[in-house]
Amino acid sequence: MPHIVSISSLKGGVGKTSLTLGLASAALYAGQRVLVIDMDPHADSSTGLGLPVTSVDIGSMLTHPEQYSLAEGVCTSAWNSIAAEQAPANVEDDAAGLGSVEAVRGSAASTALEHMEAGEELDRLVALLAGTVDDYDLVLIDCPPTLGRLTSMAWAASDRVISVAEPSLFSVAGTERTLRAIARFEENTDYSVGAASVVINKVRSTPEHSFRIDEMKSMFGELVAEPVLEDFDSFQRIQGAAYPVHFWPETSAQDFAADLSALYRGLID
Ligand SMILES: Nc1ncnc2c1ncn2[C@@H]1O[C@H](COP(=O)(O)OP(=O)(O)OP(=O)(O)O)[C@@H](O)[C@H]1O
Ligand SMILES: [Mg+2]
Repeated sequence: MPHIVSISSLKGGVGKTSLTLGLASAALYAGQRVLVIDMDPHADSSTGLGLPVTSVDIGSMLTHPEQYSLAEGVCTSAWNSIAAEQAPANVEDDAAGLGSVEAVRGSAASTALEHMEAGEELDRLVALLAGTVDDYDLVLIDCPPTLGRLTSMAWAASDRVISVAEPSLFSVAGTERTLRAIARFEENTDYSVGAASVVINKVRSTPEHSFRIDEMKSMFGELVAEPVLEDFDSFQRIQGAAYPVHFWPETSAQDFAADLSALYRGLID
């Protein structure tokens, strides 16, 4: 069974999608086979992976589970041809061979799921993935910034939840809320998320950011993953080009990609 990892935060805009894409890129670079499931109705991961918009989306699959199997929605990311063009010069481990990223796209259709009766939907993603993801090394689920039905379905299917945080007062509070929500989820359902981690993102060299990082380390202890991720200027441009950061041709991305690889190895590998 692959690790199934939800990337969550009850606060918006902190970098859930960016971390999903960053970890997918690190896994691709390490020669792994990755499946990304885009649970956010805004479908930003789908855009960042350059997915075709014609495939069956995850919202339709989960709304009508009797009509679809997962395979009908799985499509190949545009990243694979970028990685293939650069191989074998630019892969971390030649012995592991070339990795791949596949994904099930998100769409606004999944908002309908947020209005289902509590409990009714919880095992739908679990059921969709059961027996069909064994050939992957890793499944990453990009979650919306709310604790609704979509996030609950994702957590039920996951063996790890990563909470993304910025080094700011409001994000520290948001991370506390997210970790409390995970504990409540485990108390109120038959599911355990297995492990939780906090990834600190968009870090700049300022006294305020240093203070907030120390604060989070004292509050969340060993849950805080290393290294923290810097606020990397070119990241939006790389995402806009639907490129995996590890294969970006400019050398300025190398340090950031190396930090993502270190996070990937510590959290998942
Ligand atoms: N480490 C980083 N360095 C620079 N920019 C970043 C970094 N992480 C994220 N960003 C940028 O911050 C913005 C928000 O990031 P992202 O969309 O990943 O957040 P999100 O948590 O998924 O948001 P939402 O809650 O809307 O789903 C994006 O423009 C992204 O490119
Ligand atoms: Mg997002």
